[in-house]
Amino acid sequence: MMSRIKRNKCTLKRRLILWVLMTNIMLVLYCLMNSTQVKIRDSQQDTCPLSISKLKENVSKPSQRREECSPIVDIMFMKTHKTASSTILNILFRFGEKHNLKFALPDGRNDFFYPSPFLCSQVKDYRPGECFNIICNHMRFDHQEVAKLLPPDALYITILRDPVDLFESSFNYYHRAVPLTWRINGENQLTEFLNSPETFYSPQAFNSFYLKNLLFFDFGFDNNLEADDPRVMRGIHDLSKRFDLVLIAEYFEESLILLKDTLCWTTEDILYFKVNARRSSSVSHLTPELRAKALQWNGADWKLYQHFNATFWARVEVYGRERMKQEVNELRRRNTEMKAICVEDGDAVEAQKIQDRRFLPWQPVGESSILGYNMKKNVHPTFRTLCKKMLTPEIQYLSDLGVNLWLTRLWGWLKDLTWIKNIYN
Ligand SMILES: *[C@@H]1O[C@H](CO)[C@@H](O)[C@H](O)[C@H]1NC(C)=O
Ligand SMILES: *[C@@H]1O[C@H](CO)[C@@H](O)[C@H](O)[C@H]1NC(C)=O
Repeated sequence: MMSRIKRNKCTLKRRLILWVLMTNIMLVLYCLMNSTQVKIRDSQQDTCPLSISKLKENVSKPSQRREECSPIVDIMFMKTHKTASSTILNILFRFGEKHNLKFALPDGRNDFFYPSPFLCSQVKDYRPGECFNIICNHMRFDHQEVAKLLPPDALYITILRDPVDLFESSFNYYHRAVPLTWRINGENQLTEFLNSPETFYSPQAFNSFYLKNLLFFDFGFDNNLEADDPRVMRGIHDLSKRFDLVLIAEYFEESLILLKDTLCWTTEDILYFKVNARRSSSVSHLTPELRAKALQWNGADWKLYQHFNATFWARVEVYGRERMKQEVNELRRRNTEMKAICVEDGDAVEAQKIQDRRFLPWQPVGESSILGYNMKKNVHPTFRTLCKKMLTPEIQYLSDLGVNLWLTRLWGWLKDLTWIKNIYN
């Protein structure tokens, strides 16, 4: 009995020491990376003047494409957190590779120094005046900086999700990386937090933006504004001028159809397998009272979401409800077909069951709740490449595109070392 208590104490101490060590290493690295960034910044101010490439007219023109448009290749996708945006990323990566487009990629890690505001100098191999086709990794949005990298007629696209579900997802995914939540006692930290957020939240605290109006933060605004602050509506109007298409995660298939229509792409371009899904037992369900509290707590995001949910459906109306229904059915049919062709056992599986590490998705700190896929062994050669690309998680895909992810990998290694080894053993 005594020795057991002692051992527990020991484990606790060891965990604590490792945590402190890890946090320090990360902070030092972070500062180093940020300081090199600032230096580069001073040396450039140029902008991107012209459209750099349009797809040649006779490059792959499938029959179902309407004659009057040619596919759009200059795209800014503002990748928001916890919104199914990784699935869109896979689609963009595939399209870009297929057409030899030039990506503005991050350097050393899988985002543009998030949560620091975006600077064009954060782009891998950036030289002043250089232009790109697609920029789509996590960033804290800054339109002026993004505009330096893309032709002026590039399309701006993003995706939103119901702020309550987003908050819940963000809380569960990031809470171990937000020191504010460490002192919340009890079984259900999320409930405790929502019952008195002011007790546990401080705007200045490290990583606190993960816990309040994360969408607003991602778009470069102040995430601590009250919902009725006039700056909230002003921000929303800025975004509606800036973005050509705002997708809604709750209507993911309809979103992809609008995307296809706006970009003049084909159904094949938007085929997908859902990536980064959580295992259902790790998805909690909030009671109506807690939902109301989460909405109020994330009031700015709620306004943002409502605004763009309305514009989304107005667009569906213009597109045609019946036509939308047919297109969604066709997309579902094609996706099911691809799943049967590519995926072993027909669906996503737990991380532990993934045999090939290249298909193993990134996991949150301290758990392995994100599902992934096994690729069938004997996929027909015609589909082999497409299957592989559709199943490749974001981090591995970035590696394939030539990003050296040393910082992300180091973080992953430390994370596994401290959590997997100490908690599960
Ligand atoms: C387009 O088609 C023409 C004639 O078929 C051919 O000469 C040209 O090389 C093609 N261009 C590309 C980019 O494939
Ligand atoms: C989004 O719009 C649809 C269609 O108008 C509506 O049914 C739905 O309730 C809206 N969702 C929210 C959260 O406002």
